[in-house]
Amino acid sequence: MPQIRSLSINGRELRLLRYGRVDSTQRIARGLPVETVVIADSQTAGHGRYGREWVSPPGGLYTSIVLAPDPLLPLRAGVAVAEALSGCGIPARLKWPNDVTVDGKKIAGVLIEEADGAMILGIGVNLDRVPYPGATSVRAAGGRVTAPEELLSRILRVLLAPTADDAILTRYRALCATIGTEVSISIGRGLIRGRAVGIEPDGALIVSTAAGARRIASGECRHLYGRGIRSS
Ligand code: BTN
Repeated sequence: MPQIRSLSINGRELRLLRYGRVDSTQRIARGLPVETVVIADSQTAGHGRYGREWVSPPGGLYTSIVLAPDPLLPLRAGVAVAEALSGCGIPARLKWPNDVTVDGKKIAGVLIEEADGAMILGIGVNLDRVPYPGATSVRAAGGRVTAPEELLSRILRVLLAPTADDAILTRYRALCATIGTEVSISIGRGLIRGRAVGIEPDGALIVSTAAGARRIASGECRHLYGRGIRSS
């Protein structure tokens, strides 16, 4: 059974369900009311975008937040995690749409799923441990390791602040390491390669390719560096 308490954020009362080890906070959050927050110490079946495993040992932040639909949530969530991490001394950047990176290495991930007309925002942050080679953590990147719940509160304060869409876009663009970078974007079986040149007001990525500008609403983005290819 979880510990249940209320969490007061920016004048809103959220319900916090705190678990020890779970399979996935995303599964637990399905069907729960809007403004419920699930947090766990570790996950045995944490998952990320494209069905990938999200390695979730104790010492990281694993949370799922049930929210009302918001078309800008992918950008809002990326900004919230990156700005909260800067409070731990981490110069976090965003790889479109919302991978959170430090020096090109992934430190946190965001997953948004829909259930019963609500959005389930899943956030995983590597605090203490680097879960796989090529990733990083708050500790490894030289930041101040905080308790997962403290980082969660900071994320929620940014996420739930009443911020106009254009202000979120401005902050997103400032944090986005993808703009100005050579990228490849996998969309289903297709691949688009070019230079990322901007973010549209709805969060779509604009890529300048040999065949002209392409507007990309969703896909898996890789940053390409020089001759070699490094994905972050
Ligand atoms: C990604 O980068 O692919 C997104 C990773 C999202 C991981 C979080 S951890 C908490 C929540 N529970 C899950 O099973 N996944 C998300």
